[in-house]
Amino acid sequence: MKQKILVAGGTGYIGSHTTVELQNAGFDVLIIDDLSNSNIEVLDGIEHITGIRPDFVQLDLKDKEGTRKVLEQHPGIKGVILFAASKAVGESVQKPLKYYRNNIVTLLNILELMPEFGIEGIVFSSSCTVYGQPDILPVTEDAPIKPAMSPYGNTKQINEEIIKDTIHAGTPIKSVLLRYFNPIGAHPSAEIGELPNGVPQNLIPYLTQTAIGIRKELSVFGDDYNTPDGSCIRDYINVVDLAKAHVTAMNRMLDGKSEENVEIFNLGTGRGVSVLELINTFERATGVKVPHKIVGRREGDIEQVWANPERANKVLGWTAQETLENTLKSAWKWQLHLREKGIQ
Ligand code: UD1
Repeated sequence: MKQKILVAGGTGYIGSHTTVELQNAGFDVLIIDDLSNSNIEVLDGIEHITGIRPDFVQLDLKDKEGTRKVLEQHPGIKGVILFAASKAVGESVQKPLKYYRNNIVTLLNILELMPEFGIEGIVFSSSCTVYGQPDILPVTEDAPIKPAMSPYGNTKQINEEIIKDTIHAGTPIKSVLLRYFNPIGAHPSAEIGELPNGVPQNLIPYLTQTAIGIRKELSVFGDDYNTPDGSCIRDYINVVDLAKAHVTAMNRMLDGKSEENVEIFNLGTGRGVSVLELINTFERATGVKVPHKIVGRREGDIEQVWANPERANKVLGWTAQETLENTLKSAWKWQLHLREKGIQ
């Protein structure tokens, strides 16, 4: 029989790509999402790619009774992947309580309901933001956790702690904490991708919107950092590669292969790329120019961070496969698809 997985936040950017990979791997998926930062048409995209429409319930996971009812109606869920969260770093500074409430209450509800319904494991979306500016690069999972630079980052740190404490206290569940570096790109079919609300804050959606003419020019936030070309360095990871890591992590927990009840993995390529290098690579890969100018640093930005992904490579058995060129091409194809559909 197919195993059933709850994907909390499954119509979002990473959630939708993960749903596709779970279905491709033979899992049944139930998505719960309140559609606060995504839309229902994402289900069509998932169905076009996989031939399967996942079960979907529109619900705010802060509603514990509502979530309990959904779980009663969908018995037999084995694992949960928690994406549902607010994720805009800047907004979190303006509206901290929104972030603490959304991101923490949702996790508390899920952790309380898991043993009630015999759900065995939770994969949690964490972030390299927990490392702040690491002292040693590439950064490993053992690097110290630095004070969070934003309420958003703080919710990731707190949620990791909540999961660890809950399992330490004897709750019969397992967890894998996945620390993402910078997920970018879209499914190669361009059926699903990233749909930012309003003016994008993240680099790639701003870049592709500039390339297509929605934005006049891309601002490069600083060229006076202590890096080879002066711009910030990140580890950009293909979203489909990232999605596949969730399937591997879920299989590992459900097959009883976890070495510890809470395991932590960096999900990155191991390669640091600067903002200017990224713009050049995009232009080379797509043949499309990106008007850009250097402006001042963005407050709260970290100078440079990239992953040491060896643990994920060796222990989890997952390695990022896609080239940066192809990933950027997929982001561009998605932007063209949005234009065709008249969305953006
Ligand atoms: C941030 C968060 C990360 C979160 C991610 C997705 C921190 C430290 N990082 O990553 O946890 O998961 O957002 O929401 O909180 N840039 C420009 N021009 C732009 C936009 C960005 O030059 O218009 C540069 C930035 O300075 C940075 C790089 O591009 O060097 C990537 O920025 P962005 O895509 O916003 O991601 P992060 O800030 O790395």
